[in-house]
Amino acid sequence: MSGKELRAKDLLEVLELSKGSGAKELYVKKIRNGSVIDHISAGHALDVLKILGIGGGEGHIVSVAMNVSSKAASKKDIVKVENRELKPGEVDKIALIAPSATINIIRDYEVAEKTRVKLPESIRGIVRCANPACVSNAGEPVEPKFLVERQDPLRLRCFYCVRIMDKQDVLKQF
Ligand code: CTP
Ligand code: ZN
Repeated sequence: MSGKELRAKDLLEVLELSKGSGAKELYVKKIRNGSVIDHISAGHALDVLKILGIGGGEGHIVSVAMNVSSKAASKKDIVKVENRELKPGEVDKIALIAPSATINIIRDYEVAEKTRVKLPESIRGIVRCANPACVSNAGEPVEPKFLVERQDPLRLRCFYCVRIMDKQDVLKQF
């Protein structure tokens, strides 16, 4: 790239690369508009894409980085989806499989909003109980409800029956 073509945003990026804060490289370039799901538990980027309903054929520009070094934890995944903001239901699902993820909404290259996903003490309506005999699966108007016993690794306890669900049980439903 010639000097002429270097824009202010590129300069910022160069500065970021030269900061002595650990990561010396930006794995995926910055985006102009869209969503960055950052600090995803390492190895779960594809699960996040599944939650967002992104299979590749929808035409979104998507960048994924897996198992990259992170300042806080050792490794993390990152998903960047251009020109798409997340829906609340999607954020709730991401919280289940990546409890330390942050959702950054990017507008004109700036981080316009940053939210850390939050898993409440109990969840309802997002997943079904895996126990076919559970009253919440009996066709009665009983909304599935779980107590979050542990966030990472995930452990949910059905409010109605004895069933314990883990991340794999939850992922099967997404
Ligand atoms: N990002 C991007 N495009 C932009 C701005 C930011 O892809 N135009 C990405 C960054 O690369 C980073 C995430 O969005 O992965 C959050 O950006 P920022 O808040 O600037 O980074 P940090 O301060 O490192 O975020 P945190 O404190 O959440 O780790
Ligand atoms: Zn149950």
